[in-house]
Amino acid sequence: MNAFRTGAIAVCAAAALAVFHSRAAEPANIEQRIDALLARMSLEEKLGQMSQTSFGRLTDQRKEEIRKGRWGSFFNGGTPAEKAEAQRIALKESRLGIPVLYGQDVIHGYQTVFPIPLGQSASWDPELVRQAARIAAREASAVGIHWTFSPMVDIARDPRWGRIAEGAGEDPYLGGVMAAAMTRGYQGDSLASPDSIAACAKHYVAYGAAEAGRDYNSAWVPENLLRDVYLKPFQAAREAGIATFMSSFNAINGVPASGNEFTLRQVLRNEWKFDGFVVSDYESVREMIPHGYAADARDAALKGIRGGVDMEMVSTTYWDHAKGLVDAGQLDPKLIDDAVRGILRIKFRLGLFDGREQPVPASEPRPAPEALAIAGKLAAESLVLLKNEGALPLPKTTGKVAVIGFLADSAADQNGTWAMSGGGSTVTPLAALRRALGEDRVVYAQGLKSSADMSRDGFAPAVAAARNADAALLFLGEEASLSGEASSRAYLNLPGLQEELAAEVAKTGKPVILVILAGRPTTFHAVAAQAKAVLYAWHPGAMGGPAITDALLGNSVPSGKLTVTFPRTVGQVPLYYDHLSTGRPAAETGPTASDKFRSKYLDVSFTPEYPFGYGLSYSKFEYSNARASAAQVKLGGRITVSADVANTGQFEADEIVEFYTHQLAGRAARPVRELKGFQRIHLRPGERKTVSFNLSTDSLAFYDTQGKLATDPAAFEAWVAPDSVSGERVTFTVVP
Ligand code: BGC
Repeated sequence: MNAFRTGAIAVCAAAALAVFHSRAAEPANIEQRIDALLARMSLEEKLGQMSQTSFGRLTDQRKEEIRKGRWGSFFNGGTPAEKAEAQRIALKESRLGIPVLYGQDVIHGYQTVFPIPLGQSASWDPELVRQAARIAAREASAVGIHWTFSPMVDIARDPRWGRIAEGAGEDPYLGGVMAAAMTRGYQGDSLASPDSIAACAKHYVAYGAAEAGRDYNSAWVPENLLRDVYLKPFQAAREAGIATFMSSFNAINGVPASGNEFTLRQVLRNEWKFDGFVVSDYESVREMIPHGYAADARDAALKGIRGGVDMEMVSTTYWDHAKGLVDAGQLDPKLIDDAVRGILRIKFRLGLFDGREQPVPASEPRPAPEALAIAGKLAAESLVLLKNEGALPLPKTTGKVAVIGFLADSAADQNGTWAMSGGGSTVTPLAALRRALGEDRVVYAQGLKSSADMSRDGFAPAVAAARNADAALLFLGEEASLSGEASSRAYLNLPGLQEELAAEVAKTGKPVILVILAGRPTTFHAVAAQAKAVLYAWHPGAMGGPAITDALLGNSVPSGKLTVTFPRTVGQVPLYYDHLSTGRPAAETGPTASDKFRSKYLDVSFTPEYPFGYGLSYSKFEYSNARASAAQVKLGGRITVSADVANTGQFEADEIVEFYTHQLAGRAARPVRELKGFQRIHLRPGERKTVSFNLSTDSLAFYDTQGKLATDPAAFEAWVAPDSVSGERVTFTVVP
């Protein structure tokens, strides 16, 4: 087959190829081929493989660099035709014919924009999340992208950190399930399939533990917490066969992640036997200088390579200094060979040496209807109903609705932080509501132009719209630019004059339904108190408008649940469900005069506004009859915990059933609850199902302060629960 298509080849040809190759095995004899190639490579050619830069334009200089093997990889940029030509040069005109690898930030979809990952995780639907990643892989591979810098699997427990939007929230178990689902989606059955792309687990590691939620800040994480929490989703990605890792910007316990031999060599290579490669984050090798860890660029190169970063993104310390370091006897050339081996291995696995097509579609493909349908389903499942005093779904008798707020009609904001391509198909809530109800039943008032708008001129039209309607749908929250990289906030409130606008609208006395679009948990207590219902929509992507509209009108039933704790105020942060108890826990009911010397605040409750795992439905679910299959389980054995869940409401609906455990005493104090399983079940009104969780005692293991992983023989509580603070409780004992 022709390795290159530079003409107007339709994408359906690529789709046909995908079917043909879908069960393709890995190319044979990879290790021998790597050895043979390495033996022929000069040191410069090896350092070229270890270098990555952004593509830019395919200038004559760039072509010459490719001929000389200067770059092993490019990312973000270049048209498909430029990519194809650059690849042709690499394969045909460079000395050894080593292909280049094209990476891109395909984070929550490519042409089809899915909800931000934090929203996706609120679906608790890993199969749907896998399907979304599969679609992203198909779309990206069809324009010649080989590799995505996703999934972002950083555990985040501080909503000030803007990058909380990019991950699956605060829980290591759920984070691991989502990490594996996305990895499988991107990589498919085989990396060699033309519709598979290599995935990258980032940002390794503890990037989400940035002090004070300020992006790039240092993280101080004891080893047992690092292993039990922050490393867990990375390990799950590794177990799912992820091809690459990205080292993060932050320092971990004083050592920058991009020079961290403990995390990169000891954990990733020695313990997890990872055989792909590690790319640095953007200039994070050079940034070890301002970190105060490397003396200069030469020292940064030494520490990066020794640390275990195989490919340097953007900064060029490897290219500039590694040869000098080897010549001076300071750097073992075997470390360079090891790095190149991992990079070549992934290039081989992707089929890049074996005629993988570098497709050039006639035009940028559009999202397929099936892809948009999945985006709509995922957006629908990610919606979390936080409050409902009978206002939703909107009664059939509703005449006119007022739609208030710029976020009701801002496609770019609704698409979220990493919607780099795509977006042309985005349907806003305003457009979807108009389509569903008819233009004359929808009165739109922006209220404010943006969260930075300090003018109250738009308030009067918004109030008038509410007065003339039967219900006010208030769309508030954050623009896409307020979350994501370098977008930390010190306040979590709805920014600008939005709360004031909400108060003015509420004064009309019309039922207010608050829909929040945001990239993080926000605090909005006063606004929620004035509203009859609150629906949290995240940045729901291209099909967010129809998904929200369907939920408001009762064509679908919200089923999402929070994967991150919502604080009452930023002052409670960090606040997460799987915390330890204290010797002086306060009562759940909040501060009282008689419990002064308890772990709490004087000025606000210590409990969250909305706990992890929380989310309402239009229907009602009753949990009962929790039981364990035995009172005791032997170490290494299994036990089943079950409960009955009944739909006692009026709507056919999904319920996410959560399963938690708590160890009562042992080598170390353990979290008050830990998620160990979950199931999304579907129940008709009046229907009841038994939901069972089969638990291995191995999954109760934790790392102690000596770095030892073990399960204690101990007494445990377990809950089958609708969220992390309620549910049906059972007890069992693990015996030796
Ligand atoms: C981000 C990464 C991203 C990379 C390449 C960095 O600034 O931290 O998440 O993959 O840029 O765009």
